[in-house]
Amino acid sequence: MKTKVEVKNLTKKFGDLLVLDNISFNVEQGDLLCVVGPTGCGKTTFLNSLTKIYEATSGQILLDGEPVDPRRQNISYIFQGDSTMPWLTVAQNVGFGLDIKKVSKSRREELVNKYLDVVGLTKYKDYYPNQLSTSMLQRVSIARAFATEPDLLLMDEPYGQLDMELRFHLEDELVRLWKMTGTTVIFITHNIEEAVYLSNRIMILTNKPTSVKRIMDNELPRPRDVTSSKFVELRNEVTELIKWW
Ligand SMILES: Nc1ncnc2c1ncn2[C@@H]1O[C@H](COP(=O)(O)OP(=O)(O)O)[C@@H](O)[C@H]1O
Ligand SMILES: [Mg+2]
Repeated sequence: MKTKVEVKNLTKKFGDLLVLDNISFNVEQGDLLCVVGPTGCGKTTFLNSLTKIYEATSGQILLDGEPVDPRRQNISYIFQGDSTMPWLTVAQNVGFGLDIKKVSKSRREELVNKYLDVVGLTKYKDYYPNQLSTSMLQRVSIARAFATEPDLLLMDEPYGQLDMELRFHLEDELVRLWKMTGTTVIFITHNIEEAVYLSNRIMILTNKPTSVKRIMDNELPRPRDVTSSKFVELRNEVTELIKWW
């Protein structure tokens, strides 16, 4: 197995506030790593350090063995909530990341059409975001992220505000796309059930100052059944490790 991301002794402080405290871990190529930790422990700060939105106080993050650099490396980031651009059509939103990366017009069209189809939005490609439901908006964001065929996809609690049925639906879609593309995904959540449902590995963070409490494999067969005894067992195990309440 090839190591995709290496986090080495990452520390992040805001003034006197120590948020990430000497964190080290690896993400393997093709992982769907779910990171769980309490609100305020530094999950977003970690992603922002990875994408260089924030500068780390100390330590290093390597992608494919080189210091991470989102200007040169192909990283997609899906933020919490709706991130579509209201003045662009669905197809233009899906192609947005490709415009930035300056791919050819024909390749752009090919990728946009492919990922519109994959998320079932072909019929809606000329619609504007305000004409779409919440679930369709989320699928636009997912299609946009996958259309760049990223080496690394970062997702920051993307389904946190959605109702359960919709969340299940989008989680299944993510798993399908992840399997189809083999993309390495880091998925942040504070929802333990979501982490057990999605991941092939789970990383549990402590409260601030934040360190890695445990990284565990999740080999439950797919499709997963949240009511199965094995699922409930693993969910309980993760819950015991967390107990941040
Ligand atoms: N730009 C910033 N300036 C100062 N403090 C920050 C900044 N960004 C985050 N923090 C603080 O860092 C801690 C972790 O925040 P965050 O990464 O957003 O947590 P999480 O995403 O796990 O909920 C919080 O205490 C937050 O107030
Ligand atoms: Mg956050």
